[in-house]
Amino acid sequence: MIRAEPLQPAFGVYVHWPFCLSKCPYCDFNSHVRHQPIDEARFARAFEREIATTAARTQGRTVTSIFLGGGTPSLMQPSTVGAILESIGKHWHVAPDVEISMEANPTSVDATRFHGYRAAGVNRVSLGVQALNDASLKSLGRLHSAREALDAVAIARKVFDRYSFDLIYARPDQTAAMWTDELKLAISEAAEHLSLYQLTIEEGTPFFGLHAAGKLKTPDEGMSRILYDVTQEVCAQMGLPSYEISNHARPGAQCKHNLVYWRGQEYAGIGPGAHGRLDINGFRHAIATEKRPETWLMRVEATGHGVNTDEILNSEERADEFLLMGLRLGEGIDPDRYKALSGRALDPDRIRILRDEGAIVVEDNGRLRVTQEGFPVLDAVVADLAA
Ligand SMILES: C[S@@+](CC[C@H](N)C(=O)[O-])C[C@H]1O[C@@H](n2cnc3c(N)ncnc32)[C@H](O)[C@@H]1O
Ligand code: SF4
Repeated sequence: MIRAEPLQPAFGVYVHWPFCLSKCPYCDFNSHVRHQPIDEARFARAFEREIATTAARTQGRTVTSIFLGGGTPSLMQPSTVGAILESIGKHWHVAPDVEISMEANPTSVDATRFHGYRAAGVNRVSLGVQALNDASLKSLGRLHSAREALDAVAIARKVFDRYSFDLIYARPDQTAAMWTDELKLAISEAAEHLSLYQLTIEEGTPFFGLHAAGKLKTPDEGMSRILYDVTQEVCAQMGLPSYEISNHARPGAQCKHNLVYWRGQEYAGIGPGAHGRLDINGFRHAIATEKRPETWLMRVEATGHGVNTDEILNSEERADEFLLMGLRLGEGIDPDRYKALSGRALDPDRIRILRDEGAIVVEDNGRLRVTQEGFPVLDAVVADLAA
């Protein structure tokens, strides 16, 4: 049997910008609305301090990807983005072919800054388009129209060699025919990458309350499955197969940064509410920073970092996380790595049963991956293998 290819070394840096112009009713990301102007220069100084502190714990790493996420990082001035990227370059070694992605909201105001972001070093942009019709955008509480979103996509195409955009599907009242048409339009506008998320009703959001009260009807399990299958079929036919449960790319155009998470590699989390996974002296640290932006800011100014929790994962936790993240990928996982992390091999009987059910396959090179039939029940597959 041919063994799986060894992993290329990678080190990602995630930077969180926690502000938005308004809060979308479905979103539970760490994003906050402020009615006073944000002191970006002060935040940029705090980012540099936290970067310096984190880099001191992770000396010798070469940064292979940077991701500016949010919130809405495209509310930042290009000079703030430039300062953050400069700080990363000052404190870590950065690979010459580093991928630098930035999330952007597709409003015309944000798009006018794209040239500035490119000049600052950003080489990939990910736009939160969410839907391509105005009625859906309105019901999702978005501040932009479909036309504005497509205009922003066109600007992204001109300015950046690499861009992606996000859509949310399995929306209230969405039919398979409507979604097929919307998806085809999206693919015709996409270059190399699309993120397609099923609407999740997150606890604590306005959508959660409406849903619980029966005022927001989302597709049932059967309909969700149909919409998922449509997504897979249309994208694969049109050259954007999925490489992760919600992410589609032309071959070679996957988001390098997100692969770092799913492959269980190392990444630093900078900014309010950012998460990191660092390997220090043979231990895997799960790190999370203070979520409240102003508290994080003051904490960093006082102590040099905003870390709230820093826990060492035991071998079982590491192995479970590896399984949970890795099985989201089309390439699946290397069972030998699972064994090395957990100290025990995956149970051959469970593998056989899941294989007979058509939920997983074991490739000739030894990798274990979830099938198209298995993806809609991924959580159950992971729970079964991890048990
Ligand atoms: C952190 S958001 C950032 C993007 C940017 N702030 C925006 O909204 O345009 C990343 C993506 O997660 C997706 N997302 C957020 N909440 C979601 C939910 N409840 N269900 C499905 N997708 C969601 C959206 O597609 C969104 O673009
Ligand atoms: S979806 Fe994006 S714009 Fe909307 S609140 Fe969440 S992070 Fe902000």
